[in-house]
Amino acid sequence: MKTQDKVLTLLIEKKGEAVSGESLAEQLSVSRTAIWKSITCLRDAGYSIKAVTNKGYILEQEADILKASVIAENLSQEVLALVGNRIEVFQEIDSTNTEAKRRASDKSDFITGSLLLAETQTAGRGRLGRVFYSPKQNGLYMSLLFQPDEKYVDTSLMTACAAVAVCRALEKWNIQSQIKWVNDIFIGNKKVCGILTEGIMNMEERRMDAVVLGIGINIRQEKTMPEELKNIVGFVKTDETKESFSRNELAAEVMNQVISIFKEPRKCDLVMEEYKAKSLVMNKVVTVISLKEPYEAKVIDITKEGHLIVKTTTGEKKELLSGEVSIKPEEF
Ligand code: BTN
Repeated sequence: MKTQDKVLTLLIEKKGEAVSGESLAEQLSVSRTAIWKSITCLRDAGYSIKAVTNKGYILEQEADILKASVIAENLSQEVLALVGNRIEVFQEIDSTNTEAKRRASDKSDFITGSLLLAETQTAGRGRLGRVFYSPKQNGLYMSLLFQPDEKYVDTSLMTACAAVAVCRALEKWNIQSQIKWVNDIFIGNKKVCGILTEGIMNMEERRMDAVVLGIGINIRQEKTMPEELKNIVGFVKTDETKESFSRNELAAEVMNQVISIFKEPRKCDLVMEEYKAKSLVMNKVVTVISLKEPYEAKVIDITKEGHLIVKTTTGEKKELLSGEVSIKPEEF
């Protein structure tokens, strides 16, 4: 763990009380300068840390800190029954999905549900081998590990259902969002959330041993965002966001919505109707990124299996099972 993460942990433990630089330095066996540098880095990352003369540093109580116990308090009975006390928050990890997969393969004979979250990911992964930018404190990066069975919706529909769940969760705080096929959540013309679902197959028994549902939500803009992302990435909290909520509350609400949808396979058709109604690409002209040449087409339908039906410029109808489409700026 880096010194700044250790400093943060100590400040969190103090729950709004002051801790002197000297005491922090002593506890962590580092110099006062190292503590001062850590405090500067934490402030740059968005933590609100007050320095009080002759007392020390205080992490302001309203600071939006991820905490397993607070997430648990906000979870439904259904989610608690699945994850129990296996909710973990990492200050830093390569990827919560990768960690969930490591855990699943460690216990390949028996996998219990777990919910893993991180303040930052050093190797956050997106779909199609992309990197998922995961800056500290300004996002919500979480993975749910569980064993699918017949009580759940079909695994092929889980990603689409999770996209609906994220939209429903945001609606709790009056935030309206849309789904860009397959599973990106947009507010206006900016992506605020991505979903990466991964399965762990048992090849011998030809069944899925475990599912890892990874959800990344951009919460608020940080100062040092790479230039190339500025026009693409959006945030669920902006100056206009009226309602206040913490990342703990949002994490819990997303999981509550996910499991309430996953546990009602009979209502799947209705959920897919909702998916279609929330679609950002319905009736729009898009560019289909295919293995061959990209081509333009108009989206004319989304099936209850989540397939995209498009009509090309030559009038040919195509059914896309997965992949990627891009929307022209003028189509938003
Ligand atoms: C995408 O946009 O292509 C999907 C992004 C999924 C990101 C989440 S963040 C939590 C989990 N851990 C990862 O490495 N990826 C997912």
